[in-house]
Amino acid sequence: MKFVPTKEICSQAGSRGGLPAWTYNNNELTQLEIEQLFLCNWMFVAHVSDIPACGDYQCFALGNERALVVRDEQGRLRAFHNLCRHRASRIVADDKGHCGKAFVCPFHGWSYHLDGSLKNIPRADSFPQLERHQFSLKAIDCEVWQGMIFVRFGGDGPSVTELFAAAAAEIGLYRIDEMQPFDEAYRYQFDLDWKAVLDIDNEGYHIPVGHPELFDLVGASYTDQQLEGGLNRACGAIDQRRHRMQRNRDYVAALLRKSYLPDSHKNLWIYWGMFPGFVLTLFPDQIEIYQIYPGGNQQSVMVGATYALADDRPAMQRARALNREINMGVGEEDIRLVKWAAEGMRSQAFDGLLLSDLELGVASFHNRLRQLLPVVTLTQAPPGGSLREVNARMQQQGSVTAVG
Ligand code: FES
Ligand SMILES: [Fe+2]
Repeated sequence: MKFVPTKEICSQAGSRGGLPAWTYNNNELTQLEIEQLFLCNWMFVAHVSDIPACGDYQCFALGNERALVVRDEQGRLRAFHNLCRHRASRIVADDKGHCGKAFVCPFHGWSYHLDGSLKNIPRADSFPQLERHQFSLKAIDCEVWQGMIFVRFGGDGPSVTELFAAAAAEIGLYRIDEMQPFDEAYRYQFDLDWKAVLDIDNEGYHIPVGHPELFDLVGASYTDQQLEGGLNRACGAIDQRRHRMQRNRDYVAALLRKSYLPDSHKNLWIYWGMFPGFVLTLFPDQIEIYQIYPGGNQQSVMVGATYALADDRPAMQRARALNREINMGVGEEDIRLVKWAAEGMRSQAFDGLLLSDLELGVASFHNRLRQLLPVVTLTQAPPGGSLREVNARMQQQGSVTAVG
């Protein structure tokens, strides 16, 4: 793995100061971020076990785009725009479900095979000379990597396999492709910019104070590492000393010594992050996948789910349940902290962030945003209506130097 050294992160423009406050509340910027950061990058849709049988499907929506992933009759996963070629209705009503051997549009009943080709048109005689093969569903890039299904609406950057290359050996230990859903999927909506939510997720400096229970469990050894290409890894080992908190003691006692994992990983809590907002958490007893993305101006969405290998041993069930309790607590603590930090950033007294060496994950995340969308280096928002043009000009000039 190639780590980006601290010195390099801090020497990049403005890394200690964080992004200026306006970038957390600007609708034009959010639209640009959706287009240039999210729609052209890989987005996680589901685990292979969420779409197990022929005709099972799952949807994913971001900005104005809607994706639909289905398992076809050969068992292959395919992704399409969830958009009828007749008059643009979504072709499935639900976010997740089973469509049998064809999609039937709920508007006028056009139907499509699972490979996307047009199957049937009611009253086809009313469309004279229709070239049917020109009206298939539009395909979207789809890649399945270690049991996780990703789609990409546009762009031609590296594949998921390439992006995660440095993490592949470690993630491969967990046999994610053999896992099954463990708990109900969750979805949170925040009245906050997506970057504010990710900022808190990108550093471990807040753990000793912000997450006392997590700190008691893995805090002593917790470290953040930034890798090239938008990958980052945080890791803490379960402390071998006696834990102060009862739930941690119970969790550690329930964790089975005999594990499918090698000794090096039996006691680790690992978080792999991929720009812009994907996080895979590897625990010794289960995994959690979540993703944070914009839902609009000052709106963000966090969607996640847990998966685990089949194992009905009571101790394992107990460890998994305790893990969920601990992590639900951590999640509630983060939600509270992120709200407090974000409300402060709206105050006229807010002078900007100050990032320590222990918050390099935030610095590195902001540096990446500065490189991709140089307009965020401006101390003030560009005049209304001009942000897209100003950013394009700065991108052309290769400008990431105008830092406040
Ligand atoms: S919009 Fe789908 S059948 Fe008319
Ligand atoms: Fe946190």
